[in-house]
Amino acid sequence: MYQLGLIGYPIQHSLSPWIHHRLLDNAGLEGNYRLFEISPEEDFAEKIQELKSKEIKGFNVTVPYKQKIIPYLDGLDSTAEEMHAVNTVIHKNGKWYGYNTDGIGYLRSLEHAYPDFFNDLKNKVLILGAGGAARALFYALSQKGFVNIDIANRTLKKAEDIAQLGNNNSNTNVFTIEKANECLHNYDLIIQTTSVGMKSFGLKPIVTIERLKKDVIVSDIVYQPIVTKFLQDAEEHGARLLFGHTMLLYQAQYAFEIWTNKRIDLKDMENELLAILEGR
Ligand code: ATR
Repeated sequence: MYQLGLIGYPIQHSLSPWIHHRLLDNAGLEGNYRLFEISPEEDFAEKIQELKSKEIKGFNVTVPYKQKIIPYLDGLDSTAEEMHAVNTVIHKNGKWYGYNTDGIGYLRSLEHAYPDFFNDLKNKVLILGAGGAARALFYALSQKGFVNIDIANRTLKKAEDIAQLGNNNSNTNVFTIEKANECLHNYDLIIQTTSVGMKSFGLKPIVTIERLKKDVIVSDIVYQPIVTKFLQDAEEHGARLLFGHTMLLYQAQYAFEIWTNKRIDLKDMENELLAILEGR
């Protein structure tokens, strides 16, 4: 019986219960996935103690607790360590271990949609944004061996910090969003990781697409809306698209694998999740 769940705030609209119940069903496993919302006014230490006293196999961690959870864990995998952020916790032999599945999740979503991209590790990548998601993606791509990854961000310092991650071997240029506007055509993969473009942010794209390289993949991790203005513009310029909800699914697939040792095919789930998101 897999008792799973999610901590964060606010999480009432989280898609994770739907995803993990479908994964449990598809795996033929008994279990459930519950929301353990912890409001900022509550005593975090006490709430975690309470959670740990339940018969729980593991839980996901989302905003604003991805860092705050770390002192309550017995160990971290190397990625979570490097990220200083945990989004998945497993209870194993009486101990609690933290993982971060965002980067691998993104790589899996990319590999599933565009396996050809992995044939050339010299492909040029541009990451727009330098928050937690950008950090995870940069680290995963450079661990995979990609050597030309640039980062553009409003605050340069944050992009510079990411470029230092893990003594990576990539040639990373760091520049402003304005500069990115002028050189989009140099890249084979452009990943939008900022909150700009979200429904709640007013939908305006972070960059203006005027010229793109042939066969470029343009990816947005925002999934509300599914087709952001940034992706619409990219499509009009002939780009191949990668939608944000696929990263959500693949990071969950990897978390589920950490808990159960089973990698579940996401076959119909992608379309089902699309329908849910479109109905919102
Ligand atoms: P996440 O963890 O989801 O990646 P985050 O850490 O809050 O989120 O990062 C948000 C990203 O969106 C950052 O790159 C942020 O830029 P700054 O580092 O300069 O803050 C970017 N961002 C948010 N609002 C923005 C705006 N109005 N214009 C440009 N970038 C913005």
